[in-house]
Amino acid sequence: MTTPRETNEYVLGTQDAELLRLGFQHRLWSRQAAEAWEAAKFCPGQHLLDVGCGPGYATTELAQLVGAQGRVLGVDTSERFINHLRTRAEAIGLPQVEAQVGDVQTMNLPEASFDGAFVRWVLCFVSQPDKVIKAVARALKPGSAFVLQDYYYYRGVSICPTKPVVRKVVEAVDQSWRVRGGDPDVGKRLPKLLKQAGFDVWRVEPLVRAARPDTALWQWPTTFFVNYLPVLIDMGLITKMDADAWNEHWADCTADPASAFLTPPMLSIIAVRRDT
Ligand SMILES: C[S@@+](CC[C@H](N)C(=O)[O-])C[C@H]1O[C@@H](n2cnc3c(N)ncnc32)[C@H](O)[C@@H]1O
Repeated sequence: MTTPRETNEYVLGTQDAELLRLGFQHRLWSRQAAEAWEAAKFCPGQHLLDVGCGPGYATTELAQLVGAQGRVLGVDTSERFINHLRTRAEAIGLPQVEAQVGDVQTMNLPEASFDGAFVRWVLCFVSQPDKVIKAVARALKPGSAFVLQDYYYYRGVSICPTKPVVRKVVEAVDQSWRVRGGDPDVGKRLPKLLKQAGFDVWRVEPLVRAARPDTALWQWPTTFFVNYLPVLIDMGLITKMDADAWNEHWADCTADPASAFLTPPMLSIIAVRRDT
């Protein structure tokens, strides 16, 4: 049975399959998040913000990091994801988690009330990333860190060996985010937007990984495309024949140990709220 759609849900949806995929995706990328949190000096006792937290897989890890004396607020537009986070935080005994349904472009959080913030794979889906960054700048105490991880050139994804259908599908994904107001290359704009909002950009690093068919990371594109090809067909960006050609090519790549998948290039940024 498919989960009913939520109003205003983001382009990848909030159905059970996406909720599960986000959990798996978080496990595959949690090391990169944890490394940035450590570099940003997130630590016990702090009050942290998880912007566009989804079902809250990073939120609960941040809650463990800040411990019982700290607090973490997760904000997301999806009521379904926020309910999932609340239920899970309660089940695993993390009362320091707070969860709020809301649009991160219009967040009105108490001024200078957080010691740090995290946003991953959200700014590429919103039409006004500048508003999100301004809202975070207002909510952070001076000197505290904002960790951002997002795509800067989605079309840079590569599959070897390749076929024309690979380009077609990757361009369709890129287009599907743009028609819904997002920007799959938003990472390129972030250093400037951060500076304008009152941050010093302290560290900017690329995050690109190579997956082989015998690695867990190979399942990242596999699960993404299983969920997303039907959406691309519904949006009229590819045909059923394109999806079949993709699936056939992906099955061939999966069967060939010499294949490789290069992840869409991301930036991992740490910015520090300036003293005003
Ligand atoms: C790819 S998921 C990433 C979730 C989480 N940040 C993570 O790294 O696992 C994108 C999330 O952004 C949320 N989102 C998109 N636009 C939003 C907005 N305007 N306000 C709040 N959340 C938004 C979606 O509901 C979804 O949960």
